[in-house]
Amino acid sequence: MATANRAFPRHTAYLLRLSFVLLLFIIASIDKTSALGRFRNGRYDDGFLGEPSKFESLRRKPEPEDKWFEQKLDHFGQKNKELTWKQRYFVNDEFYRNDSTAPVFLMIGGEGEASKRWMSEGAWIKYAEHFGALCFQLEHRFYGKSHPTSDLSTKNLVYLTSEQALSDLANFIRSMKKEYSMNDNQKWIVFGGSYPGSLAAWAREKFPNLIHGAISSSGPLLAKVDFKEYFEVVKASLATYSTDCLEAVGRAFAQVEILTRHMIGQRNLDEKFKTCTPIKDSINNPLDMSNFFESLAGNFAGVVQYNKDNRPSAKYTIDDLCNVMVNTTIGPPVARLGVVNDMLLTESKEKCLDYKYDTMIAELKETSWDAKACNGSRQWTYQTCNEFGFYQTSNNKSDTFGDRFAVDFFIKQCMDVYSESMDSKYLEQVVSQTNENYGALKPNTTNVLYVHGSIDPWHALGLTKSKNPKLPTIYIEGTAHCANMYEPAKSDPPQLVEARNKIIKYLAQLLENFKLESA
Ligand SMILES: *[C@@H]1O[C@H](CO)[C@@H](O)[C@H](O)[C@H]1NC(C)=O
Ligand SMILES: *[C@@H]1O[C@H](CO)[C@@H](O)[C@H](O)[C@H]1NC(C)=O
Ligand SMILES: *[C@@H]1O[C@H](CO)[C@@H](O)[C@H](O)[C@H]1NC(C)=O
Ligand SMILES: *[C@@H]1O[C@H](CO)[C@@H](O)[C@H](O)[C@H]1NC(C)=O
Ligand SMILES: *[C@@H]1O[C@H](CO)[C@@H](O)[C@H](O)[C@H]1NC(C)=O
Repeated sequence: MATANRAFPRHTAYLLRLSFVLLLFIIASIDKTSALGRFRNGRYDDGFLGEPSKFESLRRKPEPEDKWFEQKLDHFGQKNKELTWKQRYFVNDEFYRNDSTAPVFLMIGGEGEASKRWMSEGAWIKYAEHFGALCFQLEHRFYGKSHPTSDLSTKNLVYLTSEQALSDLANFIRSMKKEYSMNDNQKWIVFGGSYPGSLAAWAREKFPNLIHGAISSSGPLLAKVDFKEYFEVVKASLATYSTDCLEAVGRAFAQVEILTRHMIGQRNLDEKFKTCTPIKDSINNPLDMSNFFESLAGNFAGVVQYNKDNRPSAKYTIDDLCNVMVNTTIGPPVARLGVVNDMLLTESKEKCLDYKYDTMIAELKETSWDAKACNGSRQWTYQTCNEFGFYQTSNNKSDTFGDRFAVDFFIKQCMDVYSESMDSKYLEQVVSQTNENYGALKPNTTNVLYVHGSIDPWHALGLTKSKNPKLPTIYIEGTAHCANMYEPAKSDPPQLVEARNKIIKYLAQLLENFKLESA
């Protein structure tokens, strides 16, 4: 988990004077990000998918209202059959043709708060306008304002699974068909990017009678504990700038490794990387050091994953980082790595790099809905520990990012945050169950279009090639995570424009051939 934990002093008995305590509060509120503010586990605090555009002028006012759906807590168990909770959703009927063949589009919410802006922006809205579709977005259980349980204790998190989420979707569709008096010829198409991209594909696979087709963007289909391919793609993506950039990153990491070995070097690292606590106090704690190295690598991962994709929060691009990494005027590679780290600390509004493992674990262990980590980090990390793995590791001394964050580091977090029982054997078992359940890279389904970008590290676990015409793919050269979903922009490269055109053609095909498919 690329992470920078806050150096916010915890309750200490000697902080008796009220004024001092107040001062700490003020400092804490100015410096607003925490351990969880940055890019962790392939995800920012607000989820994998950013806002649909950076164009404030497109923001719809007033925003769509919150709507609430009475949802079952447990779609499978016998014990809690009656328990329900309120799941949030949004509607946009602006383009709805409202006749017996008008399609219905459903955007699947993911591992972050559902954004209202997606109800009036993004490529899917253009498609909805074209086809006269009614648009829904259903927030994922346990994220945003959709709270199935009173808190996020590990006991309650048993209801946080992709299968429950898919059944939520099915239940929602059945109910909306009634509420809007739709007929069975009205085709439902689901959309999703990243984890919801996987869900979109799986929803069509599991509920073919309710869902006619899916556009699955940047969705990993293969669950994997040790996702070492992630940083392989990061490397390849950096090399698209120049091999010099990639080599400079590798040399910088090697220099960091050397500097950790002696006191002067350690002080040098504190200075270069603005650490919140001195490296010399953590040097014998391998978990802190793993977190430190992973934070530095995460700086590159976050930027690569969202390179030039219109995500408004994506301030920096591969070019920006590589311009620094190859600039010899700044100093040796490790100094350039320090500049990159500064840039990203500033972007996430952090004063210093907090790499303390225990601080991170303590934050992730909080279970109140008001806790920082309960904005999605605790939930998503749980899903990785309980279903998917997806740990972005580096375990090779002579490779670019070194050998400091191997898979054990991540499994240890599962055990420390949720349960001792989540050990490597458990992880292997749940991951193979997930793959068996959904079919991994051999899905048993039709009418799903899988879209990926070559720069996006997640494409390594997705379907990027297919010989089956019923499972077509689009692999976009040079674009990042979910690039095709965002609001089209003038700066979009031609292959991205072409991908969106292919998607609209595919939708046209899906919406024509209904009679054939359902026969
Ligand atoms: C949670 O995330 C939302 C949306 O990203 C943000 O507006 C909010 O400030 C966050 N809350 C906390 C407690 O971090
Ligand atoms: C669709 O048309 C029916 C019948 O005219 C009407 O009752 C209903 O409100 C319309 N639905 C929407 C979402 O516009
Ligand atoms: C390299 O870094 C130096 C010092 O920060 C800066 O003045 C210069 O503009 C940079 N050169 C390029 C090509 O970015
Ligand atoms: C480790 O990385 C080096 C340099 O990239 C590579 O040549 C080597 O094959 C890697 N070793 C393993 C076991 O992957
Ligand atoms: C594939 O899906 C069909 C229908 O959804 C089902 O009948 C069949 O058993 C599935 N096959 C496998 C191998 O899961």
